[in-house]
Amino acid sequence: MVQFNLPKNSTVKKGKHFTCKTESKNIKKINIYRWDPEKNENPRLDTYEVDMDNCGPMVLDALIKIKNEIDPTLTFRRSCREGVCGSCAMNIDGSNTLACTKSAKEVEGELNIYPLPHMPVIKDLVPNLKGLYKQYQSIEPWMQAETPSDGMEKRQSKEDRSKLDGLYECILCACCSTSCPSYWWNGDKYLGPAVLLQAYRWIIDSRDEERKKRLTKVADELKLFRCHTIMNCTNACPKGLNPAKAIGSIKRMLVSA
Ligand code: SF4
Ligand code: SF4
Ligand code: FES
Repeated sequence: MVQFNLPKNSTVKKGKHFTCKTESKNIKKINIYRWDPEKNENPRLDTYEVDMDNCGPMVLDALIKIKNEIDPTLTFRRSCREGVCGSCAMNIDGSNTLACTKSAKEVEGELNIYPLPHMPVIKDLVPNLKGLYKQYQSIEPWMQAETPSDGMEKRQSKEDRSKLDGLYECILCACCSTSCPSYWWNGDKYLGPAVLLQAYRWIIDSRDEERKKRLTKVADELKLFRCHTIMNCTNACPKGLNPAKAIGSIKRMLVSA
């Protein structure tokens, strides 16, 4: 049997318990992963009792209530509160998703919240996504076209425009990449579903003139072919996108090129 030797301080310990002081009958226990880089301590799981009668319906509402009213030290990312910025991605009840679009009611019993898995943690629920952004930069996510457009916008047929549907909606939340086993084990080399979906978005754009260069760039045993079509990515995407299909399309284009 394989023996894993985890670092001593990787064990998550039982943390503090914050009892709700109201008489409410609608209390939800929320267990949250806590880790502070400035303290030389193991991560811990703090439990907060939240009065859901005086809280918005989403998991993010509960986190904001905890931070504002119970424990200001709790750290998490958020911005838009409507599923468009991608910053509140975290692991809720065992699945990667957006805290602002996940209803707290959907989770029966206690709610468990962890940072996105297999990423270095900056603090509490904030993962370090630097590596993923570097990979995103590597696919050159901008239009590349030399043909002069005489000051006019570059037009697309309706058909070509529709090829971007299911791709342009990606908010780079990283829920897919951090649910992909291939990315967990080879995240330094394999580009992962989020970045590959973005790569395909530019490969398939009829206005871009660097399709061949883009395809050659990703045509790599490690960068692309580490995808084994396990499909976790597609199941995880909170925007209902299908990164596995985009990866399959790149592979097919390479075969026919
Ligand atoms: S389909 Fe590919 S990218 Fe998606 S989870 Fe599986 S291995 Fe990862
Ligand atoms: S494909 Fe979906 S899960 Fe992946 S980064 Fe984009 S929006 Fe997030
Ligand atoms: S806060 Fe922007 S997606 Fe959740």
